Amino acid sequence: MAQYAQYNHKILEIGSGGGEQIAHLAVQNPASFCLAVEPFMNGVGKICQHIYNGKMPNIRVYPDSFWHIYPDIPDGFFDTICIFYPDPWRKARHYERRMITKTKIADISRILKTGGELQFATDDTILLQSVMVDMYMARNQFAWVNSGPNQFLHRPPQFIESRYETKAIEQGRVPVYLQYRNI
Ligand SMILES: C[S@@+](CC[C@H](N)C(=O)[O-])C[C@H]1O[C@@H](n2cnc3c(N)ncnc32)[C@H](O)[C@@H]1O
Repeated sequence: MAQYAQYNHKILEIGSGGGEQIAHLAVQNPASFCLAVEPFMNGVGKICQHIYNGKMPNIRVYPDSFWHIYPDIPDGFFDTICIFYPDPWRKARHYERRMITKTKIADISRILKTGGELQFATDDTILLQSVMVDMYMARNQFAWVNSGPNQFLHRPPQFIESRYETKAIEQGRVPVYLQYRNI
């Protein structure tokens, strides 16, 4: 990761799926380093297609689980971390597989700058409750930035609707967006 340290601004997307979001962010923020992490090979192929088509020099793909690259990420490395529509792992016994849990919140905090932002979206009410409670319990690490219920229901303007999100809305699910600042 050290070779990317010279970028003043760095964005990480964990679970990039087809890569629409991170490709959009790379185009909108040409001076930022963007890292897409996605273990599913179909997704990795699509992300590479975006990079190739858009000739984006500022984006890299890590084609495996985030938890494999995690130990190599220095403290305070990223300005923004996006986790959009992670797999919900709805059953209580699968709690530890969720991307945000009590213990993983500290891991995410470690690699974010102080003042850096965690952007989260889900269309799953069980995961939403789990994340909101765990983030509330970690309020000494992350401050909640959302200003009220209306903000939860509107995608922040810097992001686009991914294909996953389009399908979720078509199927009647309600996307919820949460923003936190690393303290
Ligand atoms: C429902 S999709 C959402 C994709 C994308 N974020 C979007 O909004 O369209 C969840 C993605 O998380 C990825 N994923 C699951 N476990 C992961 C892990 N340990 N590290 C990184 N990505 C992971 C999956 O392969 C899948 O592409």
